[in-house]
Amino acid sequence: MTDPRMARLGQRLPGLLLKTEPADLEFYGRDWTRRWTPNPIAIALPAQSEEVQEIVRWAVEERVGIVPSGGRTGLSGGAVAANGELVISFERMNRVLGFEPVDRILTVQPGLVLEALQRAAIEHDLTYPVDFGARGSCTIGGNIATNAGGIRVIRYGNTREWIAGLKVVTGTGALLDLNRGLIKNSSGYDLRHLMIGAEGTLGLVVEASVRLAEPPPPSNVMVLAVPAMQDLMQVFAACRRSLSLSAFEFFTDRALEHVVRHGAQDPFDQVSPFYVITEFDAPDEARHALALEVFEHCLNNGWVNDGVISQSSAQAASLWRLRDSITESLAPLKPYKNDISVRISAIPAFMQAMREIFEREYPQFDIVWFGHIGDGNLHVNVIKPAATSDTEFIVECERVTALLSATLTRYQGSISAEHGIGLVKKKYLAGTRSDAEIAMMRGIKRVLDPFGILNPGKVFDPA
Ligand code: MLT
Ligand code: ZN
Repeated sequence: MTDPRMARLGQRLPGLLLKTEPADLEFYGRDWTRRWTPNPIAIALPAQSEEVQEIVRWAVEERVGIVPSGGRTGLSGGAVAANGELVISFERMNRVLGFEPVDRILTVQPGLVLEALQRAAIEHDLTYPVDFGARGSCTIGGNIATNAGGIRVIRYGNTREWIAGLKVVTGTGALLDLNRGLIKNSSGYDLRHLMIGAEGTLGLVVEASVRLAEPPPPSNVMVLAVPAMQDLMQVFAACRRSLSLSAFEFFTDRALEHVVRHGAQDPFDQVSPFYVITEFDAPDEARHALALEVFEHCLNNGWVNDGVISQSSAQAASLWRLRDSITESLAPLKPYKNDISVRISAIPAFMQAMREIFEREYPQFDIVWFGHIGDGNLHVNVIKPAATSDTEFIVECERVTALLSATLTRYQGSISAEHGIGLVKKKYLAGTRSDAEIAMMRGIKRVLDPFGILNPGKVFDPA
């Protein structure tokens, strides 16, 4: 180990697992964004929170930045280490520490993969209801860092709703035990919620108490082919009025083409410009029949022109694949990702405004729309044309994102609904948050991370 700073870390923590091979620096230094060249000083893989505290104290003395790292499935560069930072990977802190049945709280380490957490909940006949396509590789620590949302927010809310307590190491190495699983706690500022969605800039989560829910009732999945954008909201209103929804998502024909090329099964004979996938409680025949009525109502009004309802859990899984595998099917094409939100009531007008911007500014680009329309959250992925260089493409996309950000400001929306600001959306933060808010966020960071070592340069730059 040649770097004297790393030698000093080794002396402080002789048992700490460190990786410094070029392949490790490359692997742990990036997330699913592929825009930055990883360049961390090393990768630390602590096994307990005391080690995390000692690493932070070392980082303060050496003035080395720390990048916390979970499954690195992030889409905003939040887990990128491109400037000589030390990456702390939580992959060895991945255990379920305990379950308290009366509280229905599972205590877990941050490196636990979401799917493993969901399985642990099922072992206790309960459910952890936050869910999305990256469940097999993202970790609860990363989910907390971005207040991850996903496909069931419409019923269960974001990650924030399920975090009953957090143990966090601050930028001075202090360990905070926040909220301790309490349901009611009106004792001043709830610092737990400050940590959720902070993208690792205020503290490093070393333990989380996660609330579990009753298992959902049996459900069915319905996919509807929708002829026009303005019909999407009519279909949403009709479904929400009659059915108990646990998901309501949409995607376009372009998205369908990509997932089918990736191995998913197209359930329709004819192409439609839009599709909806919705999941609803169907514990009995009557509720199943209600879904058919909703479908017929939409059909008679011309809001849909075809549809399919799952008849088995295997078919439901196959239909979900149409939505779940969009990200994966697009990843090799290096899409520029927009992850925006507006109030649900503003969706029709905002979608129209956004469409006009894209048609005018990106006439030659393949644009893939999908997302959580029932939460007012749209993902718009711009695919890089083969002939355009990576650099030109980013410049072009950033120019259009500035226009999008200005439109979002008008509609009082957000430039990041669920992926986080990270490095990718930093330039546009001021379109979503006021100068006063950003100044306050900087002030909060100065209190919790006075030396600026926690995920430096993410969300905003130092003033
Ligand atoms: C999704 O909804 O599929 C995720 O947020 C990932 C993405 O936007 O690609
Ligand atoms: Zn999403």
